[in-house]
Amino acid sequence: MGKRGFRAAILHCLADPAVAGDAAWEYFADGLLVVADGKVVAVGDYTDLMSSKSASNSIAACAVVDYRDKLIVPGFIDTHIHYPQTDMIGAYGAQLLDWLESYTFPEEAKFADESHARDVAERFLNELMRNGTTTALVFGTVHPQSVDAFFQAAQQRQLRMIAGKVLMDRNAPENLRDTAEQGYTESKAQIQRWHGKDRLLYAVTPRFAPTSSREQLDKAGELLQEFPDVYLHTHLAENEAEIAWVAELFPESENYLDVYEHSGLLGQRSVFAHGVHLCDSSCERLAATNSVVAHCPTSNLFLGSGLFPLRRLQQHGVRVGLGTDVGAGTSFSMLQTMGEAYKVQQLQGESLPALEALYLATLGGAKALSLDHCIGNFKAGKEADFVVLDLAATPLLASRTAQCRTIQETLFVLNTLADDRAVAATYILGEQAQFN
Ligand code: GUN
Ligand code: ZN
Repeated sequence: MGKRGFRAAILHCLADPAVAGDAAWEYFADGLLVVADGKVVAVGDYTDLMSSKSASNSIAACAVVDYRDKLIVPGFIDTHIHYPQTDMIGAYGAQLLDWLESYTFPEEAKFADESHARDVAERFLNELMRNGTTTALVFGTVHPQSVDAFFQAAQQRQLRMIAGKVLMDRNAPENLRDTAEQGYTESKAQIQRWHGKDRLLYAVTPRFAPTSSREQLDKAGELLQEFPDVYLHTHLAENEAEIAWVAELFPESENYLDVYEHSGLLGQRSVFAHGVHLCDSSCERLAATNSVVAHCPTSNLFLGSGLFPLRRLQQHGVRVGLGTDVGAGTSFSMLQTMGEAYKVQQLQGESLPALEALYLATLGGAKALSLDHCIGNFKAGKEADFVVLDLAATPLLASRTAQCRTIQETLFVLNTLADDRAVAATYILGEQAQFN
């Protein structure tokens, strides 16, 4: 396939702006992103690339798509989301444990029916595409067919996705429980079927400590030993009542994280959603084991879970990604999620510069998922997943962004005001995603 160029304002991160400052990002007001065979060939200033004689002499001849009044950024990376909760987003009036009982479990029971799972998976992926999210770490339900339906739909769209079947052998309705042995066997079969197939990867997915016996958590640890490059995806220290329940269920453990560590579940491919209420020693263990916390601001606000101490975790050296946590999260939009992450910091007397939020939603997310060798920015050779943002998608956005003098201001306004309406197009491996 021939080269194609995309001419637009282009912004991407090369490192964490919290650490590397202005060396951490590149912005080309009149930029060109060159793509061939689904991969990035080059990114830079339009005139420089077009006139450069050396490496890019064939660039001048490539077909160019004109997005000159738009902004291109790397595809967003959502490090924690539940596809089966698509149809129950915005369920009123409960904190975590009641919310699970009243809304979540009944909704997830519907996924015993694979045709229902297929229908929701398609609509979920449409929603991700509509919002510019090109990679996500995704919960299924306890039913293996929920994961088959999801991976089939993602494979058809050539998406880079990570997902897994929920492990849940207690403290849940009968029709949503597996057993330690069954969960192990079903997960193993899923890993063998899906992990590493095209762009798909598997995550061993115990829901959270209260719904798994020690035996089941140990079996999850065994899977990680047997398949060292699969992920571990679960919840951690989200809500005070949940934490108290974990202490009752696992009296021998020092704290919530210790429950997981005891079964060998920490590590560089382990992603723990929330981590709102963590002691210093848990932060140290997360950092020492290179584990990841997915910060889910809209969910933490919606369920009244608490304020995520981003700066404290960063000071401990904990790797952090950003997640929507739909359906407890209230938006599929990572732009909205960045805006809410800013507000969560504001409520703690901290701040979150827009470029740092963009980093968390792109390259930082890729690093959190150990996928920065293939996604997260526009370095040559990376997979060409990107979003085209329309700064004038609504009358208010148009008038407000027209006032912005720097790309930081523009980006911050997008995080505050924009959502799926600002996503003009989403590209997967250099091709425009089709969704309805
Ligand atoms: N903890 C256990 N299950 C869930 C879930 O589905 N959503 C959230 N936000 N927290 C959980
Ligand atoms: Zn969740």
